Amino acid sequence: MAQESQTRKVVYSAVQPSGTLTIGNYIGAVRNWLRLQEEYDCFFAMADMHAITVRQEPAELRRRTLELAALYLACGVDPQKCALYVQSHVSAHAELCWVLNTVTYVGEASRMTQFKDKSQKHADNINMGLMDYPVLMAADVLLYQTDLVPVGADQKQHLELTRDLAIRFNNRYGETFKVPEPLIPKQTARIGSLQEPEKKMSKSDENPNASVFLSDDRDTILRKFKRAVTDSDNRIAAAEEKLGITNLLNIYCAFKGCTMSEAEAQFSGFGYGDFKLAVGETVADALAPIQSEQRRLLADKGYLAEQLSSGAERAFKAARKTLSKVYRKVGFWRE
Ligand code: TYM
Repeated sequence: MAQESQTRKVVYSAVQPSGTLTIGNYIGAVRNWLRLQEEYDCFFAMADMHAITVRQEPAELRRRTLELAALYLACGVDPQKCALYVQSHVSAHAELCWVLNTVTYVGEASRMTQFKDKSQKHADNINMGLMDYPVLMAADVLLYQTDLVPVGADQKQHLELTRDLAIRFNNRYGETFKVPEPLIPKQTARIGSLQEPEKKMSKSDENPNASVFLSDDRDTILRKFKRAVTDSDNRIAAAEEKLGITNLLNIYCAFKGCTMSEAEAQFSGFGYGDFKLAVGETVADALAPIQSEQRRLLADKGYLAEQLSSGAERAFKAARKTLSKVYRKVGFWRE
């Protein structure tokens, strides 16, 4: 196993426990991890340190972190095959972030689109952590000598910064970090909002009909799909000018595991009402077993704590190697 893990490629990804996961998070990120865990050395985290860059209710953050862990497991993430852990349990993330801060320019951090968006949205709380968010993300990824980072399209810019920082550090101090590649599946890179499909579906959307949450019950899911924005053309086909229908088709394909042309053929001649009902039913059917498994796991806190503690131990061992190397390279004195 130890020898195998040296030759296997490394995959890293994380989700913030900052709200209830949407089907965008599921389709764009978590679902893709299941295939990867079969082939790669995977590290999957709950990014609680990222979450506090916007205000969180402490008791809720704690509850959501455990709910997210149970959800990962309920979706099929296998703690025997990968290190599943809470980011703040491995202090190396904060430590490497500090060092990387010294090779990050204020200009490049302040140009990040998400920093600008979040600064607007949380104008009364533009804290240093918000600006440092992508540097902490770079630390997450680089600590594990990661090859691949499966994420949605909204994280692409952050991964470009991660690559830049790795290359800059390597040039300044000598070869230290592997330069990672993002893994962004084309069709599901950006699941759109059901109300404004040109915007991404988001955990924090103020319109309750815009996002389908993994915790939504069947009636809520059907109602949200029924209200999904479409167009006046009444043709079920993917097209640039038909963002709403294309988004629904994408969601359908992701949950059904079929191709776009298969879905288009299946729904040819359907009215929009029946189509939206079929998509809603497909999503509700797929989420029901995940939801009941999550409930079952949440009732066994001891089991969850055990998995997270062994995940953190595995992560810590790998992270410590990189961090020692970094400390040596930058000239920190060690006996
Ligand atoms: P977060 O929690 O905002 O999102 C988790 C993952 O879901 C993807 N995603 C989407 N994919 C498709 N369509 C959507 N509408 C959609 N909305 C979200 C995100 O791209 C992400 O992959 N910063 C990260 C968490 C993180 C991280 C990392 C990721 C912390 N450290 C290191 C990778 C590597 C984030 O915002 O996740």
